[in-house]
Amino acid sequence: MWSKNVSLADGTLSLAGVSASALAKEFGTPSFFIDEDAYKSRALAWHNGLQNQFGEHAGTVFYAAKSFICTAVAQWIADIGIGIDVCTGGELAVALAGGISPSKIEVHGNNKSVSEIDRAVSVGVKSIVIDSLFEVERVAAAAKKHGVRQAVMLRLTPGIEAHTHEKISTAHEDVKFGFSIASGAAWSAVEAVSAHPELELRGVHCHIGSQIFGSEAHEIATDRLMGFMAKYRDFYNHELPELDLGGGFGIAYIQGEVTVEPTDVLPAIHKAVTDACAKYNLAMPQVSLEPGRNIVGPTMFTLYEVGTVKDVVVDGGHVRKYISVDGGMSDNARTALYDAEYTAIIAQRLSTAPTALSRLVGKHCETGDIIIKDIQLPSDIAPGDLIATPATGAYGRSMASNYNHVPKPPVIAVKDGKARVIVRRENEADLLALDVKE
Ligand code: LLP
Repeated sequence: MWSKNVSLADGTLSLAGVSASALAKEFGTPSFFIDEDAYKSRALAWHNGLQNQFGEHAGTVFYAAKSFICTAVAQWIADIGIGIDVCTGGELAVALAGGISPSKIEVHGNNKSVSEIDRAVSVGVKSIVIDSLFEVERVAAAAKKHGVRQAVMLRLTPGIEAHTHEKISTAHEDVKFGFSIASGAAWSAVEAVSAHPELELRGVHCHIGSQIFGSEAHEIATDRLMGFMAKYRDFYNHELPELDLGGGFGIAYIQGEVTVEPTDVLPAIHKAVTDACAKYNLAMPQVSLEPGRNIVGPTMFTLYEVGTVKDVVVDGGHVRKYISVDGGMSDNARTALYDAEYTAIIAQRLSTAPTALSRLVGKHCETGDIIIKDIQLPSDIAPGDLIATPATGAYGRSMASNYNHVPKPPVIAVKDGKARVIVRRENEADLLALDVKE
């Protein structure tokens, strides 16, 4: 839940030796704080884990940029030497700005524009993961134009109902992503790609959903994808060398949940791949993964300041304390969107007051602007208190909005007692920058 350099002694939160009060004083609230060392070690743990488990058959860890990216983090990724999965031209631009080699960039998206494809092909990305028959033609046309043979993967839907929230589950049949194996769409895609000499089909990909615990869903996906690779081999007499099993590895948001560590799942995934190799008589492919949430999620917390506290009498005469902070659904849309659960603490003082049933809400003009629906917090919580919510690194800042013209919070990297801005806070000028005056 809390990243490795967070300490919570005497009710005071510190990150890498810097107290919450000092961070709030210097950078204001709301702000995201990233434990730089934790981020780098989580990214490296996936890289080393894949290398150790798969040896010469280790493909690439493509960090899923959608979970959180900015130029500094792209630079960290370039330094660590892992890859990145981008799914828009914007994410590609940040990856390039951070100095990530195009040879480490994989391009996703179910509706990549012609210009996004053109840019990706022209800079020489490692691969483009094709998601529709239209895209086969579009990528082939771009490759022809730039005089290259473009490596591509096919995104397949193996028909798995991953046990996660419906909106973040992606590999059952009734979804917009990929080509269904069961319906034959995947085979049609193979035929379409094979008709284009400017495309090199490197392998197959799936992403079965997000916030998944255990390895069972990835194991089943492995078997289905490799069964498909065997069908390809039987027909074309040539084996596809790459298998990409996507991301989706869960993290702990609240007490009782346990963050998946690479070593928890990689042995089972390796076994699933070797079992499928034996079952289908295939050579070992290069295996890649795309963790996003699992790398960045646990490494950030959000710091808010309490503005108002209100006791509201609810059903049955109970009192619920509504604690309003200076952010809300504009920096954390996940509770409103997915009924996501978070926890929170007072970050700058110890309270021995009894706890009270509370609801942590934001400052937006909307009832659904809830960060935490039900939480027990000290009943003496008051305006001016700092509240920290852990595990907000993934899909927090990256899904932030300007709803109600609230400026997006900054991201501050903290390491070895030093804190620095890596994404600055938006200001009023930013909010007005796009408006055209009549
Ligand atoms: N690869 C592909 C192709 C993806 O679509 C995704 C996430 C990932 C990798 C990374 O998944 P992760 O390891 O982060 O679970 N906004 C939602 C999550 C949407 C995920 C979309 N795709 C949320 O806040 O839970």
